[in-house]
Amino acid sequence: MLRFQNVGLRYGLGPEVLRDVNLHLAPGSFHFLTGPSGAGKSSLLKLMYLGLHPSRGNISMFNQDIATIDQAELPGLRRRVGVVFQNFRLLDHLSTLDNVALPLRIAGAKEGTVREHVAELLSWVGLGNHLDVHPPTLSDGEKQRVAIARAVIGRPSLLLADEPTGSVDLEQGLRIMHLFEQLNKIGTTVVIATHDRGLIKRFSHPVLKLERGKLKINRRLGQHKSAQDKPESSKDAQNNGPEDLRADPLKQISTGDAVDGSSS
Ligand SMILES: Nc1ncnc2c1ncn2[C@@H]1O[C@H](COP(=O)(O)OP(=O)(O)OP(=O)(O)O)[C@@H](O)[C@H]1O
Ligand SMILES: [Mg+2]
Repeated sequence: MLRFQNVGLRYGLGPEVLRDVNLHLAPGSFHFLTGPSGAGKSSLLKLMYLGLHPSRGNISMFNQDIATIDQAELPGLRRRVGVVFQNFRLLDHLSTLDNVALPLRIAGAKEGTVREHVAELLSWVGLGNHLDVHPPTLSDGEKQRVAIARAVIGRPSLLLADEPTGSVDLEQGLRIMHLFEQLNKIGTTVVIATHDRGLIKRFSHPVLKLERGKLKINRRLGQHKSAQDKPESSKDAQNNGPEDLRADPLKQISTGDAVDGSSS
């Protein structure tokens, strides 16, 4: 899926912010990425979504060597990656619905299914009443959930989320984690960068830890506290209201025909 060999990264003539990174993400794996502020988490994710080239070392993605790949193939690879940016990067001139619909429309999905899929997912993340508003009128937590919906709607092969729960409360954070786990169950490889040790402790996923540009992997087997992991679906059902927060957020898009071959 994704392999880094002796990767280093420097910005301009500055010092190396990532050093000798060796990493292999197996298809269908789920990792947290953590480390102090400035350790290089966002920089590592940028390399993973091919937003930057490494200063040294090799990266291969979907079995293709990034250094030698035909440049014309890069956009196709990038389209297989869903990214939740730390600063959201929503398009302010588009409505919430149109922001989230973007990956489906770029992939040529039938317009008739787009609105239905997007509305379903936005409802699930608690934004069913915000489909037609524009990002500048949303709170940070609402923007974050729009950014997450946009990243997952096309069922990417690889999902990279940079502090995806940084602006939401615990209940929403666990709901978002549930969404990522559902996506992972249908085959998406997931990497979540977070400072939130409490969140990491609730799950058994291995942790990639960055410290001053060096990466370590902690597999942490057997720490899963399943009772705390997910919002209770029965409780959600009682709180349905107009936004109908259901247990399976990806049911519609996982069985639908929105994006042909996007997760292959
Ligand atoms: N565009 C840039 N130009 C120059 N230096 C940069 C740039 N982006 C990041 N850096 C530097 O690279 C280092 C790693 O930054 P990065 O944003 O990857 O850290 P981070 O672990 O994501 O931090 P945070 O937890 O605060 O988001 C920092 O020293 C930062 O100053
Ligand atoms: Mg960061």
